[in-house]
Amino acid sequence: MSKLFSPIKLRNTEVRNRLWIAPMCQYSCENRDGVPGDWHLVHYPAFSAGGAGLIIVEATAVSPEGRISPWDTGIWNDHQVQAWKRVTDLVHQRGAKIAVQLAHAGRKASTYREWSGHGSVKPEDGGWQSVSSNSEAFPGYDAPRELATNEIPDVIEAFVTAAKNSVAAGFDAVEIHAAHGYLLHQFLSPLTNQRSDEYGGSLENRARLLMEIVQGMRAAVGPELPIMVRFSATDYREGGWDKEQTAQVARWSHELGADFFDISSGGLITGVQIPVGPGYQVPLAEFVAEHNGSPVGAVGQITDAHQAEAILEAGQISVILIGRAALRDPHWPAAAAAALGENLDYLPNQYKRAWPSF
Ligand SMILES: Cc1cc2nc3c(=O)[nH]c(=O)nc-3n(C[C@H](O)[C@H](O)[C@H](O)COP(=O)(O)O)c2cc1C
Repeated sequence: MSKLFSPIKLRNTEVRNRLWIAPMCQYSCENRDGVPGDWHLVHYPAFSAGGAGLIIVEATAVSPEGRISPWDTGIWNDHQVQAWKRVTDLVHQRGAKIAVQLAHAGRKASTYREWSGHGSVKPEDGGWQSVSSNSEAFPGYDAPRELATNEIPDVIEAFVTAAKNSVAAGFDAVEIHAAHGYLLHQFLSPLTNQRSDEYGGSLENRARLLMEIVQGMRAAVGPELPIMVRFSATDYREGGWDKEQTAQVARWSHELGADFFDISSGGLITGVQIPVGPGYQVPLAEFVAEHNGSPVGAVGQITDAHQAEAILEAGQISVILIGRAALRDPHWPAAAAAALGENLDYLPNQYKRAWPSF
């Protein structure tokens, strides 16, 4: 059997294979209430029918002001939980597991989705004041308000409540979004965190917000639920966040109850050179894996079944995540299985005749 289609266990949750769907924002809550709707009910279950092991649902806000755009999904109220339950039920019917990426956009909140406009959505158009580790704007967006120290417990509480809501909604795991220049990354990186309280300065202080979230979540959800963390392993700028700090903070997160690390890069600042190309983030993921006992996932321009299998064969990486390849073809895992000569007994009978080897 290929490595790609061998199962993997996180805590007591067995995932049927190591080909997972990366979180991808759909910006499709047309009522701007964070409630997933028809789009999400069609979009996510298709990946399960297509053979994926685990689907990580898009950046889903832990509070209204944590949304990247007014059209983002949320998981802070019961209405949203009930709507997510329909999505998780449909995904489970086809055998995949489903996780949700819990997110707060920080200074990158209240922006237009690509097809509706550019820059920040003003309060008079349904936008809101963003918050961050400091009051410096992301280029092209309105400036955030710096969070006061006494507001930070509310942020932690929002993530912890969102994790409890995720369990109620039927999710098998949660992923904390600490990447791509959103709130937790803004606290982690020295480029966006010059705070003088206990949440700024040393690496330990910059990581404190994430650590308190991991710790609070683990205490709230008990020992069963796998907790994953997505990091950007570098800001691609000297003096910024880097792979060494990522590996250290991943170790601390693991000690506090996180089980899996999903390694991406960039997104905090503009004007940097990112060496984009096939598998370009794999060495960053391998570095974190080498310095950590926990399983690590690689993502970024992994578009070929043999490429994916070779990354796992090299030994450090435990899981492959695919993004855009799955948007082009939600059944990409089924095609990858065919390319590797695997017969997946969990592909839908209705589609059997499409796969000669099945
Ligand atoms: C439409 C779209 C939306 C995305 N939304 C998210 C998101 O919500 N959270 C996140 O961590 N990454 C997000 N990403 C990044 C992907 O998870 C992934 O890391 C990236 O696309 C690289 O993988 P790929 O080359 O396989 O697409 C998004 C990417 C795309 C294309």
